[in-house]
Amino acid sequence: MTQNRTSEDVFHDSASDPSGPAATTAAASAAASATAPATASAAAPGTGPGPAAALPDGHPSARPLAEGGVGDAPLLQRLRGRPVQAPPSVWFMRQAGRSLPEYRELREGITMLDSCLQPELAAEITVQPVRRHRVDAGIFFSDIVVPVRLAGMSVEIQPGVGPVIEHPIRSEADVDALPELGDDYEAALAPISEAVQRTVAELTPAGVPLIGFAGAPFTVASYLVEGGPSKDHLRTRTLMRDRPEVWARLAAWVAELSGRFLRAQVLAGASATQLFDSWVGSLSAEQYLAHVQPHSAAVLSRVADLGVPRIHFGVGAAHLLTPMLEAGATAMGVDHRLSLRDAVSALPAGTPVQGNIDPAVLFASEAARQAEARSVLTAGAAASGHVVNLGHGVPPQTDPQVLTDLVSYLHEQPVPSQAASEGRA
Ligand code: CP3
Repeated sequence: MTQNRTSEDVFHDSASDPSGPAATTAAASAAASATAPATASAAAPGTGPGPAAALPDGHPSARPLAEGGVGDAPLLQRLRGRPVQAPPSVWFMRQAGRSLPEYRELREGITMLDSCLQPELAAEITVQPVRRHRVDAGIFFSDIVVPVRLAGMSVEIQPGVGPVIEHPIRSEADVDALPELGDDYEAALAPISEAVQRTVAELTPAGVPLIGFAGAPFTVASYLVEGGPSKDHLRTRTLMRDRPEVWARLAAWVAELSGRFLRAQVLAGASATQLFDSWVGSLSAEQYLAHVQPHSAAVLSRVADLGVPRIHFGVGAAHLLTPMLEAGATAMGVDHRLSLRDAVSALPAGTPVQGNIDPAVLFASEAARQAEARSVLTAGAAASGHVVNLGHGVPPQTDPQVLTDLVSYLHEQPVPSQAASEGRA
């Protein structure tokens, strides 16, 4: 167990880490100093809505790498759409978890949701993949249903199944009975803030930012309504059509639940955010705009004043890319079903993107994996900023060495020029 090691032990060669200080262009630096207060100049987003950053003093993003912070880490610069001279930046959705033997060891005898609420454990699990794979960001170890539990509802995560809700929300009376999100909820978020603080105390000296996250109203509400995982989210979509006003109250409740969970993570030290709307692809653009986008916007607006990048990710959501961006995101996560090249052309110019290596290549030959990695890098270079990720989470049966090798392969690659990406070089 490595819980008591110092960050110097854990990241002993951080001085030579390839994600070290990056050169920003003169224009980007000028933009930063023009838009941000002196206390948090590195944190102002290059794109997207929201006033200049108002992060607490001492936040990792309020200081540049040269002063022991992470504010200008290349991954964050790319998420802001600012050009940087640095090796490609990469992290993986579900990088913390069952693919790691050290995770399985720590999780022995403790349920998933209980482990999320033990700050020391959650911090250690968050740091494990950063230590092992040398990815360029940590993703906070938690789950989209943790806030549901913190609000006092009975939910479990069943291994191999996913979140299961004891009393699903199916009627107006169920919505009336949703717990109030008052001071009790704020107090219940304390272990989340503590886990983030412990995590950033380890990651920041190594120059590695932490990404905080939350579940979007549609995806979280679909678990609440269905009672568990579902293929077509039929009950949820029926509620939306049949009782739009009841749906709206449920979605607004989830938006507050997730938004406060996300804000707590940023205030405690997360330097970027990702809103997961994994199951939103089951909706038409029309339904999304009418019944979901305003609620996702409410979540993102809870962190907009803090000036950290806001990534929005959905699966099978090619038809929703722009509406999801317009919910108030500053960067779009792209799954592997859509070519990254098409995503970049579909999005407004200047939108940073994240993605989208097909997780299937983790089980294919090294040659196939590396070819996919190069192709994703080339497509991503057409965007104003690109952070490499998988098109969805790391499958539990992944050989961790494959991930470590993929990260080092990516870090050795030159970032292709925009001209090469557009086939002009
Ligand atoms: O490494 C990370 O990405 C950070 C932690 C994280 C988890 N869940 C941990 C987890 C994140 C970001 C999530 C988000 C999440 N949770 C999403 C959105 C992302 C996505 O995958 O689309 C969703 C839909 C959930 C709900 C959920 N929780 C599912 C579908 C499952 C898988 C069930 C299973 O066993 O196959 C979970 C459980 C879960 N969340 C695990 C982990 C590490 C596995 C729990 C275990 O160890 O048994």
